Amino acid sequence: DNNKFQAIISHCKEYGFIFPSSEIYDGLSAVYDYGQYGSELKKNIRDYWWKWMTQLHENIVGIDAAIFMHPTTWKASGHVDNFSDPMIDNKDSKKRYRVDHLIEAHADALPKEQGEALLAEMDQLLAKEDFAGLKTLIENNKIKCSVSGTCNWTDVRQFNLMFATEFGAVSGEGDDNMVYLRPETAQGIFVNFLNVQKTGRMKIPFGIAQVGKAFRNEIVARQFIFRMREFEQMEMQFFIRPGTQKEWYEYWKEERMKWHLSLGIPADRYRFHDHVKLAHYADAACDIEYDFPIGFKEVEGIHSRTDFDLRNHQEYSKKKMQYFDNDPGPDGKPYGNYIPYVIETSIGLDRTVMMVLSEAYEEQDLSTAEKADSRVVLKFPPKLSPVKLAILPLMKKDGLPEIARDLMNECKASFRCFYEEKDTIGKRYRRQDAIGTPFCVTIDHQTKEDGTVTIRHRDSMVQQRILLKDVKEMVEKAIQE
Ligand code: GAP
Repeated sequence: DNNKFQAIISHCKEYGFIFPSSEIYDGLSAVYDYGQYGSELKKNIRDYWWKWMTQLHENIVGIDAAIFMHPTTWKASGHVDNFSDPMIDNKDSKKRYRVDHLIEAHADALPKEQGEALLAEMDQLLAKEDFAGLKTLIENNKIKCSVSGTCNWTDVRQFNLMFATEFGAVSGEGDDNMVYLRPETAQGIFVNFLNVQKTGRMKIPFGIAQVGKAFRNEIVARQFIFRMREFEQMEMQFFIRPGTQKEWYEYWKEERMKWHLSLGIPADRYRFHDHVKLAHYADAACDIEYDFPIGFKEVEGIHSRTDFDLRNHQEYSKKKMQYFDNDPGPDGKPYGNYIPYVIETSIGLDRTVMMVLSEAYEEQDLSTAEKADSRVVLKFPPKLSPVKLAILPLMKKDGLPEIARDLMNECKASFRCFYEEKDTIGKRYRRQDAIGTPFCVTIDHQTKEDGTVTIRHRDSMVQQRILLKDVKEMVEKAIQE
């Protein structure tokens, strides 16, 4: 439903969630800035992932590695040679497309079965790297052909997606001082594997988690925060004994799905999609796809990466990337030295923001016989809401603001509150609905008499009278769920 997608984009801008980057200069393609509520929402998702992955899994620790890495990292990881996508140029429009995005967009607009058949054919050609076949597929399906039917495409070529920049002293030193902006956070974990394992006395199986920016020079980048050139990843590499990768791969598929369901999103909004064409490092891989307004799309990837990365880093750095496993093997002797295998879970933070927004966004018609009315409400799980509690004195006089201020001071160190005295109470409620605040508290004259306030629940719009002194505890309980 493209209308819903567009409505969410407008809503995000209007209510301070997400703005096009450098908007006063007409924006920068596929780069976005998070505003006052968007950055809170994103932080809450990041914190929730971090806590769930590191605090709740005793054998996973977190790190924060630099974005810049030694250039050899990307040779060892295979990104210099393999991190490229097949592209094609339209000679008429002078536009360049990623072949898979071009065909996917075309397939989305076809009747379901036809679209799926086209995608299956594309997957096969991609897996074989049959570039001539891909060009023919584009031409035969008349993708972006002129009205007269001519399809003026170049051959399909590979383009590397990494951004390169110069590091330190410039001038005349060739490629020596070229560094890349990391295209995935994972390599910061691989190169620190032994640092963490030794200093943390970690025993296999164990994991290292990280959240951080990644950069890719995406060619087709027109899907809001779904596909960006600068984005954030939340990744975890789980180091295991070789030969156990199948069971751990299944374990992490299930475990990560539990996390998704713990966001209160129903199971039928998700599906797994197994990869036909594997990335250069994987021996098994799947995506967790969510049913976005633009259809089922990947939010998270789970990859069985074998020992590909550690083995290559060992080869390129000439430093041992081995672990000594003291546990007894089948013959009673310790397993000994080996390069661990890795299962990776990799989720895009921005895509998760998009997912949470899509799930939460609702336009409701509240019209009655007497009057037309409607609202847009973001039904975030309270733990993710940017603001947890709006504190609203009914009037700007009679000591009501003072009581409201006291409540604000009591609560604001524990969770994010918002204080507002302007406008009618109805308008104030609507604004809080639009940013997904789960609770609004109104202080009125009765508060002075019996110490009660009205608490209004966002989703049901039900209003309840509760004791002022119980407000904080009630909100705290709700945001822990
Ligand atoms: N370390 C493995 C890795 O990077 P990936 O499937 O290329 O795997 C993982 O990326 C996740 O990162 C994706 O599932 C997606 O959520 C997010 N992601 C990748 N490219 C993105 C982009 N251009 N914009 C926003 N998110 C992106």
